[in-house]
Amino acid sequence: MGEAAKTVIIEVERRNSTNDEPYFEKFEVPYRANMNVISALMEIRRNPVNMEGKKTTPVNWDMACLEEVCGACSMVINGKARQSCTALIDQLEQPIRLQPMKTFPVVRDLVIDRSRMFESLKKVKAWVPIDGTHDLGEGPRMPERKRQWAYELSKCITCGVCLEACPNVNEKSDFIGPAPLSQVRLFNAHPTGAMNRDERLNAIMGEGGLGSCSNSQNCVESCPKGIPLTTSIAALNRETTVQMFRNFFGSDRMVD
Ligand code: SF4
Ligand code: FES
Repeated sequence: MGEAAKTVIIEVERRNSTNDEPYFEKFEVPYRANMNVISALMEIRRNPVNMEGKKTTPVNWDMACLEEVCGACSMVINGKARQSCTALIDQLEQPIRLQPMKTFPVVRDLVIDRSRMFESLKKVKAWVPIDGTHDLGEGPRMPERKRQWAYELSKCITCGVCLEACPNVNEKSDFIGPAPLSQVRLFNAHPTGAMNRDERLNAIMGEGGLGSCSNSQNCVESCPKGIPLTTSIAALNRETTVQMFRNFFGSDRMVD
């Protein structure tokens, strides 16, 4: 008798639609060297038979880039929210438990609806406005030190992990969460983006803004890109204080 083929046990929290009760289903898939969670899920999709030998529906999940750039494949893996495309099977304890992130509505199985985060980015105008698609030439130069920290903030992949980690982002609260706040600091730092600085700061001074942060610091520890979220939040606290005086006394200073 040869040695039994190596397998991977995956336990998936499943539901058919948003309002359905969740249930767990276990799968055993053949092991391959260097597998990640997505390749195990693809194996289940190829052969949707659970550990009881029953044919079931293929598991649903989101993915796009497969290289930790798009943020679409975020899920809770063995209790920790992270990207499934970079979660290597060899580094995970088995059975590997896959669950959808709970901060966002679950669409089906591991698919979540991240609209909450994208709506917040719209609310704070997290972009640099341009007046057309024609070539505007080189943009204004930024001081090197500022460029360096702004570059770090630009690495956000809108994966939602920091919102999942934050105790104040949930269905009962309208807190926009750490990622959109940090993007306010990023776009205010841009020489052209700074034209909307006052609007962005005023947006986060209201309901669901900075005032809802309780400084738990979970966000900065959870971010896969190492974005200094709490530094951004501290900087925004200072900037909104100045903005409050500007709003009160009036100011002709549009851009630093
Ligand atoms: S700040 Fe980090 S954890 Fe939060 S959405 Fe961006 S990349 Fe993900
Ligand atoms: S598939 Fe894009 S981050 Fe994982």
